[in-house]
Amino acid sequence: MNICFIINPWESLDPEDDSTLRLIHESVLRGHNVGVLYPHNLTIRESQTLGFVRKIKKKDKYSGNYHVFHKKVEFKEQLLPLEGFDVIFARSNPPIDPVMLNFLDSVKDDTFIINDIDGLRKANNKLYPASFHDNEIIPVTYVSKSKTVLKKAILESPKDKMILKPFDGFGGKGVIVLEKSALQNINSLLDFYISGTKEGNYVILQEFIEGAEEGDVRVLMLNGEPLGAYRRIPARDDIRSNIKAGGSARKHTLSKQEKIICSRIGPKLVSDGLFFVGLDIINDKLIEINVCSPGGITRINRFNRTRIQKTVIDFIENVILKKESAIERKKHFKRLIDEA
Ligand SMILES: Nc1ncnc2c1ncn2[C@@H]1O[C@H](COP(=O)(O)OP(=O)(O)O)[C@@H](O)[C@H]1O
Ligand SMILES: [Mg+2]
Repeated sequence: MNICFIINPWESLDPEDDSTLRLIHESVLRGHNVGVLYPHNLTIRESQTLGFVRKIKKKDKYSGNYHVFHKKVEFKEQLLPLEGFDVIFARSNPPIDPVMLNFLDSVKDDTFIINDIDGLRKANNKLYPASFHDNEIIPVTYVSKSKTVLKKAILESPKDKMILKPFDGFGGKGVIVLEKSALQNINSLLDFYISGTKEGNYVILQEFIEGAEEGDVRVLMLNGEPLGAYRRIPARDDIRSNIKAGGSARKHTLSKQEKIICSRIGPKLVSDGLFFVGLDIINDKLIEINVCSPGGITRINRFNRTRIQKTVIDFIENVILKKESAIERKKHFKRLIDEA
C-alpha cells in the first residue's frame, strides 16, 4: 500500500513524544511504501496534483527505537502524483492551510484522506462542537467578534468565571480565565483578542467548567469509537491542561458518562469523514474536537502498555482492502454481463 503523511518538518518531530512518528513507523514496519510531504511542497501540473515527496527508503530491518528510527531513516525526494497514494494522512499542525485543502480536493475521490477534506473544512476551528446541538454535553459558548455582544454575555452570565480563547488556537495558546470581578480588565482583553486583523478576529467565550483544576481527558477516537484515553492535569498555577502549556499526563479509564459522550458524537464524526480525532472532555462536557493532528498515542501506550498505532494502521488497511475488493467485484460482474 502507498501511504503519504503530510506533516511538519521531519526534524521537528519529537521522537520521544510524537504520535505521527508512531504511525509512520508502524506503516514502514508493515512494508508499505511511505512518503512524507510538507504542505508547501504541493503543486499542480496539467490538472494533476503533485508533491515533492520524501519517500522512505526500504530496508530489511528498521530499529524499534523511535529515536534511532527518526535519526537513521533515509529519504529519496521525488515529485510524485498524489493520486498514486492509497492513503493520505493530513497530520500537519493546526491551523489548517486552506490552500492545502484545495490541492487535496483534486485527489479526494481516488485516495482515502484521513481526515476527509470536507470534514476538515467543517471542523478545523472551535465552532464545530456547536454543530452537535447537544446542550447536555456542549458547554454554553459564544462566538463573536463584537465586543458589545461578548461583554453583554459576560455581564449576564450567572457565573463569575468564564473562559476566553482564540477561535483557531491550539496547545492552550491564549486560553485565559475571565473574572467578572476584574471588570476593569475585560475591555482591554476583548480589544486585544478581537483586534489583529482589519476585520477583527472571532473570539470564543465559554462557561467555565467546574472541576477543570482536575484536568481534562483526551480521548482518541478511531472510526467513531474510543481508541484510548489519558488525563492531563494542569500545572499548579495554570488552568490549561495542555502538555504544551505545562500540563502533566496521567492514566485514565473512561467513565460511563464519557463513553456515552463518545457514543453520542461518534456517528456524526464518521459521517463527516473525521475518522481519527482527539476529544477534550472536562467533567463530562466536550470542549474541543481536534481534527488536524491529534496527539496522545505515546502517552496512552505508555500508561496501558499498548501500541494503539497498530489499530489505526489496521483500520486504514481494512478500508483500502474493502475498496479494492469492491472494484474487483464490479469488474467481475461487468465481465459476466459482457460475456452473457
Ligand atoms: N470552558 C472551559 N472551562 C475550563 N477550562 C477550560 C475550558 N476551555 C478550555 N479549558 C482549559 O484550557 C485548555 C485548552 O483549551 P482548548 O479549548 O482545548 O484549546 P486548545 O485548542 O488550545 O487546546 C483545556 O484543555 C482546558 O484545560
Ligand atoms: Mg485542546
